Amino acid sequence: MKYNIPRGTFDILPQDSYKWQFVMDSFRKIASRFGYEEISTPIFETAELFERSSGESSDVVQKEMYRFTDRKERIFALRPEGTAPVVRSYVENHMDVLSSRTKLYYIGPMFRYDRPQAGRYRQFYQYGIEFIGSDNPYYDAEVIAIEMLWLQELGLKNLRLEINSVGCPTCAADYDAALREFFRPALQDLCPDCVKRFDLKPRRLLDCKVASCKPFRVGAPSQLDYLDAPCTEHFAKVCESLTAMDISYIINPAIVRGLDYYTNTAFEVIYEGLGAQNSLAGGGRYNGLIEQIGGKSIPAIGFAGGFERLLLALEKEQIELGKRICPDAYLICLGEKARVAIYTYLNHLRQKGLYIEYDPDKSSLKAQFKAADTSGASYAIIVGDSELEAKTVNLKNLVTGEQVSLPLDGGEAVYAILHQDH
Ligand code: HAM
Repeated sequence: MKYNIPRGTFDILPQDSYKWQFVMDSFRKIASRFGYEEISTPIFETAELFERSSGESSDVVQKEMYRFTDRKERIFALRPEGTAPVVRSYVENHMDVLSSRTKLYYIGPMFRYDRPQAGRYRQFYQYGIEFIGSDNPYYDAEVIAIEMLWLQELGLKNLRLEINSVGCPTCAADYDAALREFFRPALQDLCPDCVKRFDLKPRRLLDCKVASCKPFRVGAPSQLDYLDAPCTEHFAKVCESLTAMDISYIINPAIVRGLDYYTNTAFEVIYEGLGAQNSLAGGGRYNGLIEQIGGKSIPAIGFAGGFERLLLALEKEQIELGKRICPDAYLICLGEKARVAIYTYLNHLRQKGLYIEYDPDKSSLKAQFKAADTSGASYAIIVGDSELEAKTVNLKNLVTGEQVSLPLDGGEAVYAILHQDH
């Protein structure tokens, strides 16, 4: 019986894993530079957590959630996103008592039952940041700055930051009413999903992917015209802070975001070369979410991005992402006596922290040199019975061909040379 990987998922193979480690390490570094600490939550949570936070009308909840019932009939879901679990943990662990400002980041797999294509998978890896504890527009700009600075430091060029404000629940209600007025005459021509959205969440009509729905949104009212005075001021200050931080952006009133918890700032980072799935990262403010899932009324903002899309963009710009790890040296052993004696020496070298490859199943000099070459090692350490008698080893530089004789000691002589090369 042969088994295949589930559709929309992928293996991270050894020849690629160093790239993943590189971007993940790099994200951990930038997050730490801004004072964020890592949090890991389970990959499944009660389904209700996502239904309440992402919104019953969202595609994520309606169509994309992997929902399952456990042996005690409890309903869980594989997490489709990281914000709700982080907020659940924040509330459950009383993090607000520990500090008035909480800075958390996470890395991990998320799951959405979506139609797979380049840049869209059913299991994908997100990186994300959540800042909890202040409504100050400075933090909106700082959170955006983390993502932009990181992507620029990685070397990405064709980036576009798009921002919008979706307002607070009061101005959002006025805007929804205006949208209903606008779309009502076209109701019978919209797709069935849009008809549902019309009642539940009319702003989702602006985001529908069905081609026949698109013409009907031309001339739709803009969210920005329906913001109340505090929301208008908040948005102006976010824009002002971004400009002061030298971060370019465009205001796009059509940014809706697929999840329901957003208030005020919403943003997306677009990388043009990625076709339909060109949103590298997205996020925004969610001032009502903590209270909605059982905590106090505490404002927050965050974002998340997909590692798959990031890697595709980096590949497109031919940006090198570290290297596959090669051995420091390959140990070549000739003769039966040397073979047993060499284990202690090999052990000493490894205890010094060196990565030494050795294969006891290869006995000829030729086979061992060939293996040394394919391993990518820069050096070969050669020990035969005659070296053993003379208590020496030969260290050959596989790049220059140079060879030196060194004492067969506790590994110090070889270590001194290999360590210099590190
Ligand atoms: P999101 O926009 O749903 O936001 O996802 C964020 C990013 O995850 C996207 O920009 C994309 O790079 C990646 N992504 C989403 N779905 C897929 C998929 N099926 N395959 C590959 N990559 C995907 C959120 O998840 C929010 N929790 C972000 C946030 C954090 N808002 C506030 N804090």
